[in-house]
Amino acid sequence: MKKKIISMTMAAVLGLSLAGCGSGPDNASSGGKDTSSSSSNSKGSSSEVANKDKPLVWFNRQPSNSSTGELDMTALSYNDKTYYVGFDANQGAELQGTMVSGYIKDNIDKIDRNGDGVIGYVLAIGDIGHNDSIARTRGVRKALGTGVEKDGDINSEPVGTNTDGSASAVKDGEIEAGGKKYVVRELASQEMKNSAGATWDAATAGNAIGTWSSSFGDSIDVVVSNNDGMGMSMFNAWSKDNKVPTFGYDANNDAVAAIADGYGGTISQHADVQAYLTLRVLRNALDGAEIDSGIGKEDDAGNVLSDDVYVYNEEQRSYYALNVAVTAENYQDFTDSTKVFEPVSKQLDSGSHPSKKVWLNIYNASDNFLSSTYQPLLQNYDDLLNLEVDYIGGDGQTESNITNRLGNPGQYDAFAINMVKTDNAASYTALLNQ
Ligand code: BGC
Repeated sequence: MKKKIISMTMAAVLGLSLAGCGSGPDNASSGGKDTSSSSSNSKGSSSEVANKDKPLVWFNRQPSNSSTGELDMTALSYNDKTYYVGFDANQGAELQGTMVSGYIKDNIDKIDRNGDGVIGYVLAIGDIGHNDSIARTRGVRKALGTGVEKDGDINSEPVGTNTDGSASAVKDGEIEAGGKKYVVRELASQEMKNSAGATWDAATAGNAIGTWSSSFGDSIDVVVSNNDGMGMSMFNAWSKDNKVPTFGYDANNDAVAAIADGYGGTISQHADVQAYLTLRVLRNALDGAEIDSGIGKEDDAGNVLSDDVYVYNEEQRSYYALNVAVTAENYQDFTDSTKVFEPVSKQLDSGSHPSKKVWLNIYNASDNFLSSTYQPLLQNYDDLLNLEVDYIGGDGQTESNITNRLGNPGQYDAFAINMVKTDNAASYTALLNQ
């Protein structure tokens, strides 16, 4: 696990350099005047802050190379008020993998549905170029012993179909349980991308399980998905009726509720902490406050996060929430994924934290996790933090569908960005540089 490394000196320096940043509370109303200047060197209407110097947070999709996973440090350190907020993908992936392998071992007497000694699973991959998706695929393959090494890490490529175990991107694993050895095989895996290009596509996953089950349904003992949107689509289309345990990720409300009906489990990526951090880092930067205020250090209202729910990696300028497995044992504690996290639920005083305008986009308005869990949480926190947020929903396919709606950045005090593709940070920063 990464070490929490908040540098107080750094925070203090930031605090000083941020003082006076942001525009006054009446920015929203006077923002309209700024239209013409925004195409040149945009200034906030009632402040002297250039767009390129305003607070910026990337969230959910970490600026990085979608082929190699290498972080895009140019985007992550765009200015001294730039951060990323996400969750610890490797810790979560490991949890997901061990949740699935633990379930198999605990239920070994009934899991092999056709009794052929092979535990077959299918895997829905969200986006082959998204680091969270890559980590989850690796975590599952590692825990089930089906991963093969490529370039020093577990290969995360989809296999298509592999009912005979001949695919080269995976290998057959082995599990010993109940005094018997079983082969574990990834029967099929595929990126769930629709014809228009949207990834993590739930409908595509529903169709895929239809195709897979009609040709080798009896061999499928476990269904695994990189997220709950796709997982629930497969559960509803096939595995619920066929009593095949299905595992996802995100702890969306519908998935947690489905655990009572046989959904195997999911992982909470602590979206309640992430949504808070997304807006909180902007709030602190706008206030010229220490960046750790209300995060590692209690703020004037009493908000503070404990070390067991997040880590900060200063070098990567990234906050990562920690994950928790949600299974039949504890799901009752996770039934409302849109509830604010109690330790950071106190209203800020509007005198010392005056209203500010934030532009925020969601890469795909139909992404189950972002629309049913993350955005409702953001909407709960924006009031508590006195932020007036404009929410822009993208189509999940093209960056321009979103950047076209950032025509007047001068109207806003801060920006929160969820890219369609992790490589595309420059499409946004180019608009802020103008
Ligand atoms: C979530 C997925 C979501 C994706 C979008 C991931 O962190 O787990 O459900 O589709 O982010 O970027």
